[in-house]
Amino acid sequence: MTYIVMDPCIKCKLMDCVEVCPVDCFYEGENSLVINPDECIDCGVCEPECPVDAIKPQADDEPGGKWLKINTEYAKLWPNITVKGTPPNDAKVFEQEAGKFERFFSTKPGRGS
Ligand code: SF4
Ligand code: F3S
Repeated sequence: MTYIVMDPCIKCKLMDCVEVCPVDCFYEGENSLVINPDECIDCGVCEPECPVDAIKPQADDEPGGKWLKINTEYAKLWPNITVKGTPPNDAKVFEQEAGKFERFFSTKPGRGS
């Protein structure tokens, strides 16, 4: 089992989650993060750190495992991130939005740290 980053992270990318992970398994995209399910030890420490509730246990995934697939795929492509960076200026604007994946998800890598 693993934890997964879901839709609320997109365009918010607050990064409060990255520094608490004991195994450093967050990976950075241009406008969101993912967890590497093969590295996550299912400790749950990151879940309460996210101010927008973007991190959930795998059991809370959508039918078909949509977010597990996204986390697995992009953890292989994006750089590791262990240090909190500066969130986007307009993060607040996107906090209450739903369905951001279809409209805003960027496949481009972030800078990592
Ligand atoms: Fe890291 Fe634990 Fe969160 Fe998994 S559940 S990403 S190991 S902090
Ligand atoms: Fe995203 Fe929440 Fe972490 S917005 S970067 S999952 S603190």
